[in-house]
Amino acid sequence: MSRLGHLLVLGLFVLGDGLFVQRNAARDFHSLDGLWTFVREPRNSNGIGFAEKWYERDLRQFKNATVMPVPSAYNDLTADSRVRDHVGWVWYQTQYSKPVFVPKNARTFLRFSSVNYYAEVFVNGMLIGSHVGGHLPFEFEVKMSCEHVNSITVAVNNTLSHSTIPPGEFQYKTGEMYPKGFFTQTPGFDFFNYAGILRSVYVVFTGPSFIKEIKIQPNMENKSVSYSTNGDFCPSCMVTGTVLDPSGRPITLQAGTFGTLHLSEAHKLQLWWPRGYGDQPLYTLRVTVLKDGQVVDLYDEQFGFRTVSWTSDHLLINGKRFYCLGFGMHEDSELHGRGYDPVVMIKDFNMLEWMAGNCYRTSHYPYSEERAREADRRGIVVITETPAVGMKVFNSQNQKLHGQMLQEMIARDRNHPSTVMWSISNEPWTDKKESRQYYKDLIDIAHLVDPSRPVTMVYGPTGYSNDVTADLVDIICVNRYYGWYINMGYLQTINASVVYDLTQWKKKFKRPIILTEYGADSIAGLYQEPSVDFSEQYQVDLMRQTHLAFDTLRKKNVLAGEMIWNFADFMTAQGITRAVGNHKGVLTRSRQPKRAAYILKQRYESFRNNSY
Ligand SMILES: *[C@@H]1O[C@H](CO)[C@@H](O)[C@H](O)[C@H]1NC(C)=O
Ligand SMILES: *[C@@H]1O[C@H](CO)[C@@H](O)[C@H](O)[C@H]1NC(C)=O
Ligand SMILES: *[C@@H]1O[C@H](CO)[C@@H](O)[C@H](O)[C@H]1NC(C)=O
Ligand SMILES: *[C@@H]1O[C@H](CO)[C@@H](O)[C@H](O)[C@H]1NC(C)=O
Repeated sequence: MSRLGHLLVLGLFVLGDGLFVQRNAARDFHSLDGLWTFVREPRNSNGIGFAEKWYERDLRQFKNATVMPVPSAYNDLTADSRVRDHVGWVWYQTQYSKPVFVPKNARTFLRFSSVNYYAEVFVNGMLIGSHVGGHLPFEFEVKMSCEHVNSITVAVNNTLSHSTIPPGEFQYKTGEMYPKGFFTQTPGFDFFNYAGILRSVYVVFTGPSFIKEIKIQPNMENKSVSYSTNGDFCPSCMVTGTVLDPSGRPITLQAGTFGTLHLSEAHKLQLWWPRGYGDQPLYTLRVTVLKDGQVVDLYDEQFGFRTVSWTSDHLLINGKRFYCLGFGMHEDSELHGRGYDPVVMIKDFNMLEWMAGNCYRTSHYPYSEERAREADRRGIVVITETPAVGMKVFNSQNQKLHGQMLQEMIARDRNHPSTVMWSISNEPWTDKKESRQYYKDLIDIAHLVDPSRPVTMVYGPTGYSNDVTADLVDIICVNRYYGWYINMGYLQTINASVVYDLTQWKKKFKRPIILTEYGADSIAGLYQEPSVDFSEQYQVDLMRQTHLAFDTLRKKNVLAGEMIWNFADFMTAQGITRAVGNHKGVLTRSRQPKRAAYILKQRYESFRNNSY
């Protein structure tokens, strides 16, 4: 079967789900952010809210109703461990009045930027749709009247795989007893399973004809922009594409839902560069839908002229070698959990720039749309990652969901110049034979829907000798914890281990290699000289030893980039190696620097002016 045929059989072709909200002459939106009514079902109940049709009820009348802010995770907002550790269904509800001045023929959409993990949405008691996977936007067209107040109800389920076995890394057989119905939810990842309506919710208005999707492919060589748009356009509608230069001046125009716009000979192309390599001029593709000469829809999508390519050694941006000085991160903060917060986002970017970083990976799920746009503006290079951590089961059911999330992610982020590659998975168990076909299909999808970007996987538990997939990717990312998970306390083993390990990957696969995770936990303010694990000194010592290896590897063209794990401390499930979360941050969870941050800042700053 052809590659395309095989992917079609997998049912892996979906359309992107909605452009980011925009307010202009032809479209508008209302925010539904604020306090929503919140009712929790008992832990692991089998959906009593559905049996009792809570979506037809006014949840404010429930004796146990409270409110929760949207956007936010609900987990950390009470003093009740049952809320923090909840597994199963919770219900959110709000009321929305549609103003009478919205035209009768306007189309109305309900847009959720991220609900974790599974959501069913009801409007005025009717199910209008569902979404699985979290971290990605979804929207539904809805009918809402101006005559009465509309009720919007969202049932959210955070259930992952269940485990009936006892908790803990070790199982003793010494007399443990468990209450009736006891079970643990054991996420296969090292971050807290924050749940709820994590990003903003909007009511979006468009005219009867509207744009749904815009794909942009800037071509530097012939100074052109290929575009295609999708939407619901009336038969007599005309669609045009216009390129606006970075100062907002229209420079070329063409009719059609797709086509190639050529910039004039005279136009001096301004390239988008990563921070530290040049400026970040952003062009705009303005898509306009006209009917009888009147504008009926309009959308401005920003993009940049830049290329991403690679040799066997390096990642190239605009043909120039780019060395990543970066961070693994989390969208995580006190109280909000994984909830979107512009305050945290801006502090993150400013601290990243303070440390002279130039890139990050959206470990381990797509970050907010706002963050991707801000990365474009600042010239921060991003590896965007599919939510797929520690994959162990490589069956077609998982592959289908994985492929769907991958495509939703690419559809959402494909026009960002800052996004330079797609990461298909973090730390999969790709020593298993069946993982090869599983990942080959997914990598093919990424290449097919976006031929312009390299694809990577982030290797953890497998090594150069037993991995069966690394020859399929364009760029290899590796996570390594010499001196922490391996040989704790033996700092003298780090340099030689990192050098040897990465050199073997390089010899075998001949790909650019980015070390995407290394690091140590440190409790801020815990000092020990000589250093011991969890002290600030140990984190610094481990980094210094690892940097020795990096410098050797860079000189040999083995390394194309480095990323510390982690940007900031973050919450995890409880565990014997976690003291109120993971403390591998170079910043505390409130984004204040530990000693490690100054070491990293010094290192990253030393790359200024002499990239190599
Ligand atoms: C909240 O109230 C509803 C309706 O009485 C009930 O079904 C549900 O179990 C309650 N939630 C919890 C966590 O007890
Ligand atoms: C929702 O949660 C329940 C446990 O409360 C679980 O058994 C069920 O499979 C989940 N349903 C979906 C669709 O995720
Ligand atoms: C312009 O360049 C792109 C990419 O190099 C290519 O796909 C496209 O066909 C070219 N267009 C024209 C009109 O030459
Ligand atoms: C680090 O290890 C490499 C490879 O074993 C070696 O060549 C280099 O001299 C070491 N660097 C230091 C500072 O020990």
